Amino acid sequence: MTALDLGGRRVVVTGGRGFLGRYVCKAFEGRGAEVVALGSSDYDLTEQSEVRRLYQEQSPSVVVHLAAACGGIGANIENPARFLYENALMGLSLLEEGRRAGLDKLVLISTTCSYPKDAPLPLQEDSIWSGKPVGATGPYGMAKRLLHEACETYGRQYGLPCAVLVPANLYGPGDHFEEEKSHVIPAIIRRYVEAKDAGLESVSNWGTGTPTREFLHAADAAEAIALAAERDVPCEPINLGTGVETSIADLTTMIAAAVGYEGEVAWDTSKPDGQPRRYLDVSRAREHLGFSAAIDLEAGLRETVDWYRANPVE
Ligand SMILES: NC(=O)c1ccc[n+]([C@@H]2O[C@H](COP(=O)([O-])OP(=O)(O)OC[C@H]3O[C@@H](n4cnc5c(N)ncnc54)[C@H](OP(=O)(O)O)[C@@H]3O)[C@@H](O)[C@H]2O)c1
Repeated sequence: MTALDLGGRRVVVTGGRGFLGRYVCKAFEGRGAEVVALGSSDYDLTEQSEVRRLYQEQSPSVVVHLAAACGGIGANIENPARFLYENALMGLSLLEEGRRAGLDKLVLISTTCSYPKDAPLPLQEDSIWSGKPVGATGPYGMAKRLLHEACETYGRQYGLPCAVLVPANLYGPGDHFEEEKSHVIPAIIRRYVEAKDAGLESVSNWGTGTPTREFLHAADAAEAIALAAERDVPCEPINLGTGVETSIADLTTMIAAAVGYEGEVAWDTSKPDGQPRRYLDVSRAREHLGFSAAIDLEAGLRETVDWYRANPVE
């Protein structure tokens, strides 16, 4: 099934020093690839001339495109146009300059924010275009969705093989715990670590806790990304996840336990809940990549809490 042997192959990972990037570099290095991890100080990928320079200087055989203008909900609310513009430009320039440079393969990492709000559950890749991506992350999702089509189109016209992966919410050691960047798991871990350290008897969480989400350890995601690079996959979006939905209340209880917080886990039901349910159909990843997630959520949370304890963020 391995169509492209990564051993000795030069692989550029954009956003390679970011949260997911570090896991991806490790997964490719484990397969013997010669990995180049890039950050924005190396090349500003929103500038096409910089992207051209990247291909000239680095001569990659494979590009794994993780770099993104992204962040927590607040960052999306403040930067809808910037996120749309920068994410679309980075992806398009990497494809255009890549096909000119004779790139062998591009792996695009997308987001479940590209799904429309009312897509049926579990989210199936074919429903991505059944409505508009809405809410704060809509413009970010729309830019990624454009790139799904761009990958397919570059494959059709120029024969550039691409893989398009749509991961669930990622978590794990090294995640962003800063307030402006943190997603749900780091935000809850931080809240409960601070509550334990302050000896609080009760911690109130927003809403009812009944909405569900799906969480994938970044190491599992990185393994799936490496499989997508080496296998011959059709250029259509492939969900990456566990297929398991977890309520925010259950997640919070697991995190409180991992932290060793013994007070009350309370819910302020006067505050709004987010979207009610969200989880992925992961059958396409099983079929095309032979991928199924290996890391259990409770074990992954304990590992992440331990990491945060050892690496606290101001
Ligand atoms: N985290 C999640 O839960 C999640 C879920 C689904 C999908 N994803 C996707 O996974 C990818 C990685 O996410 P992440 O959480 O690892 O994010 P991250 O840690 O913020 O990494 C993103 C990287 O993009 C780079 N970047 C941003 N703007 C750039 C530019 N103009 N030129 C060059 N590089 C630029 C940044 O480099 P510098 O730090 O050097 O500036 C940063 O390291 C993204 O594409 C995201 O959409 C993430």
